[in-house]
Amino acid sequence: MHKAVLPAALFVLITLFTPSFASQACKNHTFSNNRTFASCVDLPVLNSFLHWNYNRSSYALDVAFRHVNTTHSRWVAWAINPSGKQMIGSQALVAYQRNNNGSMRVYTSPVESYATTLPEGRLKYMVSRMSATFENESETTIFATVHLTSDMLTINQVWQEGPLNGKADGPSMHATSGDHITSFGTLNLVTGTTS
Ligand SMILES: *[C@@H]1O[C@H](CO)[C@@H](O)[C@H](O)[C@H]1NC(C)=O
Ligand SMILES: *[C@@H]1O[C@H](CO)[C@@H](O)[C@H](O)[C@H]1NC(C)=O
Ligand SMILES: *[C@@H]1O[C@H](CO)[C@@H](O)[C@H](O)[C@H]1NC(C)=O
Ligand SMILES: *[C@@H]1O[C@H](CO)[C@@H](O)[C@H](O)[C@H]1NC(C)=O
Ligand SMILES: *[C@@H]1O[C@H](CO)[C@@H](O)[C@H](O)[C@H]1NC(C)=O
Repeated sequence: MHKAVLPAALFVLITLFTPSFASQACKNHTFSNNRTFASCVDLPVLNSFLHWNYNRSSYALDVAFRHVNTTHSRWVAWAINPSGKQMIGSQALVAYQRNNNGSMRVYTSPVESYATTLPEGRLKYMVSRMSATFENESETTIFATVHLTSDMLTINQVWQEGPLNGKADGPSMHATSGDHITSFGTLNLVTGTTS
């Protein structure tokens, strides 16, 4: 009897603690610009996925943050927060579709207050190759290379989405309940482990 119980317990441990990449929806995604990423995770809330390549010699982190089941009148953001698993201090990449001509606006915003409307500003990290897409009338993706300042194995990540303002020319506040207040965690850039 013990022989049967032990393997079962081990199996539970293994499935709990090994990221089961095969069952991750992100693994099957193909980007329309043909960019490829070695790692990805299905984020636990807000219909979001993070894909990345991390170069441990240059500390360059290429990311694609994809948010699905959205609309053209909503913004999305993904951030690294060196200050903790929290909103304040987030070094955010933000994107939305402009209402005037349908082009994407993608920019950086350091989050300094709870009342922020995500104004553009410089981050603690240099960011290059920023672009964004809005596809299938429902998916916004931010692409960027974030140049980390040292070999950071584990980062705090924060992601969010919310409505555009009345003129639809910039973000307004996101909801402050439910999944919107649990959309953060740690991410090990090398193993892909999240918490
Ligand atoms: C990914 O694609 C494979 C092959 O088409 C399929 O068997 C698998 O179910 C898909 N996984 C998910 C999570 O969609
Ligand atoms: C992506 O790859 C497909 C298939 O190889 C090709 O048809 C398409 O033009 C490529 N798209 C871009 C943006 O390079
Ligand atoms: C997006 O919405 C579709 C249709 O309602 C649903 O099947 C799918 O699971 C949703 N995707 C995510 C990631 O929530
Ligand atoms: C990683 O960065 C180093 C140093 O800049 C560079 O030589 C190397 O080609 C990069 N590796 C990849 C896979 O891009
Ligand atoms: C769209 O409008 C913005 C200003 O609102 C401008 O910066 C951008 O270049 C325009 N893009 C296109 C493709 O016309």
